[in-house]
Amino acid sequence: MARLLLLVPSATYRARDFLDAARALGVEVVIGTEEAHALAELMGGRTLEVPLDDPNEAARVIVAHDAVLPIDAVIAVDDVGTLVAAEASAQLGLRHNPPDAVAATRDKLAMRARLAAMEVPQPAFAALRAGAGPEEVAAVVGAVGLPCVIKPTTLSGSQGVLRADTVAEAQAVAERVRHIATAAGVDPAAALLVEQFAPGPEVAVEGLMVTGELRALAVFDKPDPLDGPAFEETIYVTPSRLAPGDLAAVLAATSAATVALGLVEGPVHAEVRVRHARASVIEVAARTIGGLCSRTLSFSTGRSLEELVIAHALGLALGETGAQGASGVLMVPIPRAGTLVGVDGQDEARQVPGVTELQITIATGRAVAPVPEGNRYLGFVFARDSTPARVERALRRAWACLEVRVEEGVDDGTA
Ligand SMILES: Nc1ncnc2c1ncn2[C@@H]1O[C@H](COP(=O)(O)OP(=O)(O)O)[C@@H](O)[C@H]1O
Ligand SMILES: [Mg+2]
Repeated sequence: MARLLLLVPSATYRARDFLDAARALGVEVVIGTEEAHALAELMGGRTLEVPLDDPNEAARVIVAHDAVLPIDAVIAVDDVGTLVAAEASAQLGLRHNPPDAVAATRDKLAMRARLAAMEVPQPAFAALRAGAGPEEVAAVVGAVGLPCVIKPTTLSGSQGVLRADTVAEAQAVAERVRHIATAAGVDPAAALLVEQFAPGPEVAVEGLMVTGELRALAVFDKPDPLDGPAFEETIYVTPSRLAPGDLAAVLAATSAATVALGLVEGPVHAEVRVRHARASVIEVAARTIGGLCSRTLSFSTGRSLEELVIAHALGLALGETGAQGASGVLMVPIPRAGTLVGVDGQDEARQVPGVTELQITIATGRAVAPVPEGNRYLGFVFARDSTPARVERALRRAWACLEVRVEEGVDDGTA
């Protein structure tokens, strides 16, 4: 039986779907995580303590473990861990991406530099130094062009990503982004990234790199406009309804980006905007789609996305990778910051024709914050139907059923 080391950060939505996939494929799993003892009982002892924030030390631990209990593949379920998976796989001679390519996907400024070197279509960009005052912000924004987007280089989930339309706005936004980044644990000395705002519809491309070539598995439309100032993800629907020329431009740009980054094996999740058949790459990650969103996908072989990723990592036959039918997901937005009191209307939402699943992923009583301060989703609604338009309609109807109750203030326990 093949043995898979699954790298699971403590804060992830993705463990369950990968574990289910491994079981379906008859693959043995060892969980590598930061607090292995917490999972040891659940996993029948098949856990390994791996410091996911220290790739060199983590790789050493994994290589030592492999000497006792050989591992056939290392997969990170989330962004955190992709570097460890690459480093360990390189040392063990397993199928994976080069560590430097993965590192470039984890730092938006490094990613932009690699894409620029290969002339991949992307927004104009520049770094904004940590100590930059208002005049320097004005100069950087002037070089990049307005409107612009300012963001930290290492966060995700649209946390700290904001649009600015004027120089004065950019000066205030830069302050705010810095504040959010620092609160999220980013080094205050790190530069921010300033990019020109790329207009047009945005799609997400889900793909698999197989010996250096991108196999597109699914393209999701994001039918709610993402025009800022903050960029909250709501609805994803696949297959894409983009015009053929736009879709071709998106796939060509995504493929060019993977080459420029040096990604060769494993999952890819890219975000691309497109207008008049001109694509602009927003970002490329060396992982599967985030949250529970992969549950929208089902391939003609009956496999899940996670099954394809595991099969590929183990060198098993992939077979047909065409996705089936129209499907989509709503990432339930958080209406305002405060304490989550409850989500009403869940039963009604579940009864909307086409809706297949609804899961609220934040517990009642927890502090919540919308983007750009927050970076979590309140929950997920899934739908499946005969056409993308019907899927979108079902998700909007389900959304209208939900009433998210958030109370002002956060109970920090000090009363
Ligand atoms: N240069 C840009 N032009 C237009 N929209 C952008 C730009 N940069 C980011 N966005 C929007 O913000 C969202 C989040 O930004 P992204 O760079 O993907 O960061 P994250 O890692 O948080 O997802 C994108 O999906 C897109 O909608
Ligand atoms: Mg993104």
